Amino acid sequence: MNRREFLTTTMAAGTTGSVAATAVAGERKAVKILGISCSPRKGKTTAAALSICLEAARAADPSVTTELIELAGRKIGVYDPADPKASQGGFADLIPVLSDPSVGGIIVGTPIYMGNLTSLCKAFLDHCIVFRREKFALAGKVGGVVAVGAGRNGGQETALHSVQASLLCQEMIVVGDGQPTSHFGATLVNDGKDSIANDEAGLATARNLGRHVAQVALQLAVTRK
Ligand SMILES: Cc1cc2nc3c(=O)[nH]c(=O)nc-3n(C[C@H](O)[C@H](O)[C@H](O)COP(=O)(O)O)c2cc1C
Repeated sequence: MNRREFLTTTMAAGTTGSVAATAVAGERKAVKILGISCSPRKGKTTAAALSICLEAARAADPSVTTELIELAGRKIGVYDPADPKASQGGFADLIPVLSDPSVGGIIVGTPIYMGNLTSLCKAFLDHCIVFRREKFALAGKVGGVVAVGAGRNGGQETALHSVQASLLCQEMIVVGDGQPTSHFGATLVNDGKDSIANDEAGLATARNLGRHVAQVALQLAVTRK
């Protein structure tokens, strides 16, 4: 079965069911999904939302492994075109991790600051230009985005689109949260006590995003050498 036939078969089958239902399950490869928390605060609501996404990704198929990476404390500075490495900080350590061929999907999580992504998230995404310059090392990896704000409509969708724009510039395959919510990604609300535990609607989008990213990454891994 070539790539076109495979995609036709699997897309026709839909993506809500188990990936085990794919026509070529026997050829499936292991896939790693990374979650990148772009909150300046370690272990808070953005990390919690990403953990929900990654849990759902693992539940999609036993061959899926995950890793949560927090940017807090990595001292990633504003991208300086005159000397990019000087402002990289701890981003340098992430270059081989993100570009590793075993990584099939990357879920970027950002808190909402002033109606959009954090400056840490933007700095991270700008430093990712190194991948574009390295023969588009992120091309073909699946990209998803999760945003957490203090308000129900605090800028989550705006942030999702902003991050997605950067992922598209990497030739990544950008997906939203899967069925039944099926919109632009995961959007959650911090209840004011640094918890997302009671945001049932938001948690559903996080689970659907994690599962969808894993399913598409698995489908693409079948045909990847
Ligand atoms: C500087 C700043 C600006 C913020 N602006 C917004 C905003 O525009 N909309 C919103 O919904 N929440 C806003 N928040 C709240 C955070 O998005 C929210 O607390 C989020 O859960 C923080 O993520 P974290 O727990 O991972 O740090 C802001 C918080 C800070 C510190």
